Amino acid sequence: MRKKDFIVLLACLLAGCAGPQKQFRIGVSQCLDDAWRQKMNNEMQCELLLHPEMEIYTRFAGGNNELQCAQIDSFIRERVDLLIVSPNEAEEVKPAVTRAFRAGIPVIVADRRVTGYEWTAFIGGDNYRVGLLMADWIGHIQRTVSHPLHVLEVSGLTGSTPATYRHKGMMERLAARDTVPAVHTVMGLWQKEDAYRAVRTFLEEHSDVDAIVAQNDLMAIGAAEAVRDTKGYGPGSVYIMGVDGISVGLQAILDGVINCTATYSSRGDMVIATAAQILAGQPFVRDTVLETTMVDATAAQAMLLQYNERMHDLETMKIVQVRTDAMWQQTQFQRRVLIIGLTVIVLFIIAVLVLLFYMQHRLKTEIKEEVVPQLEDVQEAIQLSKRDEAFVERLRQIVDEHLTDPNLNVEFLGSMLQLSRTQIFRRVKTITGKGPLDYIRERRLIRSNELLHTTDMTVQQVAIELCFSSPSYFSKCYKEYFGHLPSER
Ligand code: FRU
Repeated sequence: MRKKDFIVLLACLLAGCAGPQKQFRIGVSQCLDDAWRQKMNNEMQCELLLHPEMEIYTRFAGGNNELQCAQIDSFIRERVDLLIVSPNEAEEVKPAVTRAFRAGIPVIVADRRVTGYEWTAFIGGDNYRVGLLMADWIGHIQRTVSHPLHVLEVSGLTGSTPATYRHKGMMERLAARDTVPAVHTVMGLWQKEDAYRAVRTFLEEHSDVDAIVAQNDLMAIGAAEAVRDTKGYGPGSVYIMGVDGISVGLQAILDGVINCTATYSSRGDMVIATAAQILAGQPFVRDTVLETTMVDATAAQAMLLQYNERMHDLETMKIVQVRTDAMWQQTQFQRRVLIIGLTVIVLFIIAVLVLLFYMQHRLKTEIKEEVVPQLEDVQEAIQLSKRDEAFVERLRQIVDEHLTDPNLNVEFLGSMLQLSRTQIFRRVKTITGKGPLDYIRERRLIRSNELLHTTDMTVQQVAIELCFSSPSYFSKCYKEYFGHLPSER
């Protein structure tokens, strides 16, 4: 394995042990970033703890339609897996929502609606019913006074569906009453500061306002401040209702700043749960309309308590999450160390095996190239020497049987052993170390010695018997071989 391959393998192993992969990217486009939306974002974050496969990217448009469209378009370009959008104004933001939907991105519209049907799911409050509650509250006050009430409505952004439907619900129900109050509308644009300015201006010109219905709690608090600050009114001089039931609104009721509110759920948890169902291809509810209810001082207290408990739970959950994350990191680290350790061990074992294999291979080659030929040589040598022994034996036998024969010479041996003269010379010389004639003479001398010692034959008789050319030549040869003369036996 090359070094580069090894690094890639190691990187893959390490990547394999990284945390659970985020499978789905969700774009969240929020028209505003106020207390109500922060609550919604918190709820979404909580629910996300149950869906580790999803991660969200949130962009805030600051109440600007063009910016919100641009942000949605960038989510489309980034190919998010799902879009959650709370449109600033229905008609203005609709084109971007439609583009996302037509690009095949599932779209969940939350809280504020867009017109038409090019979206996947909707989750939001019943704004018409909010309007009915406002009218009922006005009717309730109406019963306590004899003159037709003078009501000031503080509206949210009129292009947004909650502003439209809250107004519609309220006006339609008021119109059906016996005593129809006079209703004036000013623009608060969902913001406390805008509401303060608009209400203040109105109050300075109208001294007879009995009640203010603000379309959200922040604007209700802004209106209360305007009442407090306007000459001829003063704190508590006008009935004030808000909408939302967020903690600042509830606190304002308990503090006597405003009189009541209507709940307007954000249910960010439900939005995320629906997103999970859509992404998992499971059935989901296409149009969810959330309940709304009136909140007076008693209910506000209970709700605030509940709200604080929930906040506490949320904190606990966050701590648990941080701890779980830390444990997860630690486990990941240990896993990485383990994998690296195992990889090193496996690589070491492979290296040892490769080395052993290589050494075995080398040994085999060496045996084949060096030892085997040597063994073959030895075997051949053994076989040769066996053949030589047989040859020498035969040679000695022939020579010994013909020691007294004067014709015992090289040609004779050749004919007996069926070899040529040259072959006889070479083989006898190689095996015995002497030429054939010398060999024959040596055998005759050995026999002569036996005869001289075992018989009464004279030196002369022995020399003739064994075919020496003369007794003196025999004596010379004998002395050369045995070191003494035959006569000195
Ligand atoms: C928050 C908010 C709420 C209101 C809702 C209407 O941004 O203004 O106060 O109920 O939006 O969409």
